[in-house]
Amino acid sequence: MMTDIRPKQGKSVFIRTYGCQMNVYDSERMAGLLKPLGYRVADAPDAADLVILNTCHIREKAAEKVYSDLGRLKRLKTERESAGGELKIAVAGCVAQAEGAEITRRAPVVDMVVGPQAYHRLPELIARAARDKGDVLDTDFAVEEKFDRLAAREAEGPTAFLTIQEGCDKFCTFCVVPYTRGEEVSRHVDAIVAEARSLAAQGVREITLLGQNVNAWRSAAPAGAGGDAWGGSDWKLGDLCRHLAKVDDLDRIRFTTSHPRDMDDGLIAAFAEEEKLMPYLHLPVQAGSDKILKAMNRGHTAAHYAGLIERVRAARPDIAISGDFIVGFPGETNEDFEETLALVETIGYASAYSFKYSRRPGTPGAAMQKQVSEDEKDDRLARLQALLERQRQEFNAARIGDTLPVLFEKPGRMDGQLIGRSPYLQSVHVCAPHSMLGRIAKVKIEGVTPNALAGALQTEDEAAA
Ligand code: 5AD
Ligand code: SF4
Repeated sequence: MMTDIRPKQGKSVFIRTYGCQMNVYDSERMAGLLKPLGYRVADAPDAADLVILNTCHIREKAAEKVYSDLGRLKRLKTERESAGGELKIAVAGCVAQAEGAEITRRAPVVDMVVGPQAYHRLPELIARAARDKGDVLDTDFAVEEKFDRLAAREAEGPTAFLTIQEGCDKFCTFCVVPYTRGEEVSRHVDAIVAEARSLAAQGVREITLLGQNVNAWRSAAPAGAGGDAWGGSDWKLGDLCRHLAKVDDLDRIRFTTSHPRDMDDGLIAAFAEEEKLMPYLHLPVQAGSDKILKAMNRGHTAAHYAGLIERVRAARPDIAISGDFIVGFPGETNEDFEETLALVETIGYASAYSFKYSRRPGTPGAAMQKQVSEDEKDDRLARLQALLERQRQEFNAARIGDTLPVLFEKPGRMDGQLIGRSPYLQSVHVCAPHSMLGRIAKVKIEGVTPNALAGALQTEDEAAA
């Protein structure tokens, strides 16, 4: 018998997102899945009938934060129930995958545990939780099913994420992702193009292709394109970007996150040849010492990485380079760390994310000898971040005087001001009419603030941008 899971009247869901862009995307999709069931999105847990914590497991503190949030939710649930009401609590994301039933053991307040590759089944899980009153757990790796089930969606605003790949086979020795997200799976090009077209038809001008290893994406050529549009039927990310660039109303394409081992010539050439591919590349290196890179199982050296960046810059000289770094991986000496600083000096980053190594149970790194002390990690992180921040400021300041096409995304804090993005992913604050939202126009960059550029609108005519 089918269970009727339609709510009697409007309900609401509050979703808290921790961690990466993939989780931000997943949360949006969860909200989309629940909408047909009558759930609107609440902006605080107090009023919600269902709270979903979409968790991240990449660093230790993230998981601890989830448990402390659950402590707070327990009080809310008790209050609600003593007033005769109800509150359901779901834990989704990578902590759900990694901890599984341990979550309901440690926090019995939780009604549902759903892994990142199974959340498309949330409607069924909610029905089961309502019916059975027990805990509900689904941590299957059902990525293909997820891709199929999540195909149609509503756009919100002029930019959108579009997942094209999930999972990771790289097994960096510090990282939980291969265990929580499973093996690398690519979405078929026809499904991606269909979603991109639908987003563009709804006013989306910029898409960011998402994947844990987005440049490991592979697919057969799309129906009708023939096997040899760009040499062979095995399409890679460069082919996909060129193909998506043909979607008329789509003006900008980005992708994240890439792995150095999957940077191929076709993708590098796309930066030179495809105007819609934005000049921004997030390419994590993690460390500058070959000894540490080897211990991390990264599969590349510092010189290989620097060589890749050189080739990318030859293709697109103005490209903004971004990266991820970990300081204090087991065995990292001061000399090793100096090599990270030296690599950063060589590359010159426009933006970057840097972290202290965090020991993740079950990963090879956690069992390694010579763990680095917290004090040393703090010290190295501060030095690295000071250098990266200087480079970011230099990159921003170098844009002063340039005229850049800016995609206006949202109103600014001040009246008459809009916030947009430059091709290099910088926020740009501009005085511009509301009617420019969702459009691209030329802006002369006149100044920088700590976190953004400021500029003046040159023309409201898109054709000139
Ligand atoms: N400790 C610290 N940082 C980590 N990252 C992944 N795992 C860990 C860990 N155990 C960082 C890496 C990765 C980014 C998403 O998070 O830099 O690229
Ligand atoms: Fe984690 Fe390494 Fe895979 Fe990135 S490439 S998700 S850091 S294992």
